[in-house]
Amino acid sequence: MQFNPEQADPSLVYSMMIRAITPRPIAWVSTISANGIPNLAPFSYFNGLCSRPAALMFSPVNRADGSKKDTVRNIEDNGQFVVNVVPFAVAERMFKTAGDFDYEESEFEIAGLTPQPSQQIEPPRIAESPLQFECELMQIVPVGEGPLAANVIIGKILLMNIDDAVLDEMGKIDPQRVDTIGRMGGRTYCRTSDRFTL
Ligand SMILES: Cc1cc2nc3c(=O)[nH]c(=O)nc-3n(C[C@H](O)[C@H](O)[C@H](O)COP(=O)(O)O)c2cc1C
Repeated sequence: MQFNPEQADPSLVYSMMIRAITPRPIAWVSTISANGIPNLAPFSYFNGLCSRPAALMFSPVNRADGSKKDTVRNIEDNGQFVVNVVPFAVAERMFKTAGDFDYEESEFEIAGLTPQPSQQIEPPRIAESPLQFECELMQIVPVGEGPLAANVIIGKILLMNIDDAVLDEMGKIDPQRVDTIGRMGGRTYCRTSDRFTL
């Protein structure tokens, strides 16, 4: 079959895209509101961008009513965020933080996660994540407009916080020890425990 996104309902396009582009890593993003309330949400339109400068991107889309998600509002306000990597051990708690909570509610409390002060920026990191990127906003790139249009967040990585437990004998990050999860289509996820070498 062929699928032409121009002729389909955007909700179907979404469903086709998240089933076609797999597995996707998950940026578990912590931000802080103007009145100091920490916010957490996962985003799987996420990847690294380049290493000079060290930069990454993720893509929060607008809600169905066209409004921006809390993560975008907070980053627009203060230009800072932490991307936390998601290990299998906290998969369920990650999922909890994707709920549509009030702007004033903190997902840290709702999901039972521990906020840990960052070294260089205001938003806290997630203590339960073994890899945390402290980032400063470089650019927000709008793609489309209205409901489901994207606000691609491009961030410069100021600091990587790495739990020593995920380092190998050479002092490099061992993905096997991180036990990262990825998102497949819909509500299905994958672990990264099955590997091969090329
Ligand atoms: C694993 C996972 C990945 C997600 N990826 C995205 C994404 O890439 N872009 C997006 O806009 N929403 C994504 N969502 C939905 C957001 O997490 C959800 O809308 C959240 O409530 C946004 O929170 P906020 O308003 O606090 O920013 C994802 C949800 C889950 C569970």
